[in-house]
Amino acid sequence: METAKLELNGETYELPITVGSEGEIGIDIRALRGQTGAITLDSGYGNTGSCTSSITFINGEKGILRYRGYSIEDLAATSSFPEVSYLLIYGRLPTQVELDEFNHKLTYHSLIHEDIKHFFEGYPQKAPPMSVLSTIVASLTAYYPVPDDLAGQEKNIIRLMSKLKTIAAFAYKKSIGQPFMYPRNDLGFAGDFLHMMNAVPTEAYEVPPLFEKTLDLLLILHADHEQNCSTSTVRMVGSSNANLFASISAGIHALSGPLHGGANVAVIDMLERIRADGGNLQKYIGMAKDKNSGFRLMGFGHRVYKNFDPRANVIKTVSDRVLNEMGIDDPLLDIAKELERIALEDDYFVERKLFPNVDFYSGILYRAMGIPTDMFTVMFAIGRLPGWIAQWLEMRNDPKKRIYRPRQIYVGEGLRALPPIEER
Ligand code: SDX
Repeated sequence: METAKLELNGETYELPITVGSEGEIGIDIRALRGQTGAITLDSGYGNTGSCTSSITFINGEKGILRYRGYSIEDLAATSSFPEVSYLLIYGRLPTQVELDEFNHKLTYHSLIHEDIKHFFEGYPQKAPPMSVLSTIVASLTAYYPVPDDLAGQEKNIIRLMSKLKTIAAFAYKKSIGQPFMYPRNDLGFAGDFLHMMNAVPTEAYEVPPLFEKTLDLLLILHADHEQNCSTSTVRMVGSSNANLFASISAGIHALSGPLHGGANVAVIDMLERIRADGGNLQKYIGMAKDKNSGFRLMGFGHRVYKNFDPRANVIKTVSDRVLNEMGIDDPLLDIAKELERIALEDDYFVERKLFPNVDFYSGILYRAMGIPTDMFTVMFAIGRLPGWIAQWLEMRNDPKKRIYRPRQIYVGEGLRALPPIEER
């Protein structure tokens, strides 16, 4: 199969086919308008490939997720977030020496410029942390020079990877009126973040190893997910040759939406609402099926996964184990598991292939670690950062890269005369 045939207006056109390394077929329409005068229309891009990519592979029907060919299950079981970040960004697993050096860099660049602290003074206490994060990330351009050549990006990649968690922790401390806790060079990535979040200057705080390991795992599970909404945003903004900080700031905004990364907050709000309403699960299942209710089962459904989200499976298993180890009996976990059981036996969800996604259980673990609900999407952003960076680099390194500029089909008014001023 070398080409696809298109018949239009009595003409037959041959369109080249691209076949991916996992057998996915893409009809290459780059010459379509020139050949036929027509464009394609695909609202929401559910059938449109924006690029070829070597970073992440998802098979939604089989629940497969791989970063650079390694399965998410294997990486979740044996890797670390810094190692996965290196894999995504640089395209291969690091040697132990390279990983040690990468960890060293992520540690020694984790301070933010002291002047950046003034941003926090200007915010009200309850400023939405995702807004704070995206604003300060965009402002990093003012503090760290942005080279034009991609080779010069390395230092800013390290700065972003190591400073984002500091900005996030400072935003949290500001929201609770506590002093900032500075990063520490003797702690690992996840441990350092949890220390900045939970420590206070007046007493020593030891990060529980179980929390550090659990957060590291959650960050691995969120690290990349091919061309999702926020990653496509990072690519879109970066395609104009906007700098890395500006592109990542745009991705943070896209992720904040409740249909995307904001869903992990919406899931907890939904579970709390169900609990407060006496746990009447059938009522909420009924509302989720009623188009007029405006209610959706948050944490359910996915554009790509049509059988199960492998990340949700890992998180659900870990939630049981971690809560048992911590001796926590979270009623929201019981409600979530019962909600999943009922939904997966209901034709509405089965017919539409709606299953729990990565956001359905992740909030349970964040809660267990004492991370407040309004910081859940920030956690998603910290996890997704290496994926955004890797995708941005792949787009910018593409010798055939063009600025992302989709077309449209106009359905508005035809040409009409502008009435004279006195008649308007
Ligand atoms: C993430 O793309 C990624 O990879 C994202 C992500 C990543 O790692 O980057 O995986 C992270 O964003 C996960 C998704 C988090 N969002 C939610 O949990 C919000 C709730 N879910 C949805 O709103 C929805 O399922 C989406 C946004 C996830 C997917 O939307 P689609 O693919 O556009 O599907 P759709 O809205 O067209 O729905 C198809 C049908 C509709 O019913 P019909 O019109 O066919 O009758 O399914 C229904 C929808 O009404 N439906 C739901 C539902 N999700 C879809 N009905 C009830 N509850 C839901 N959650």
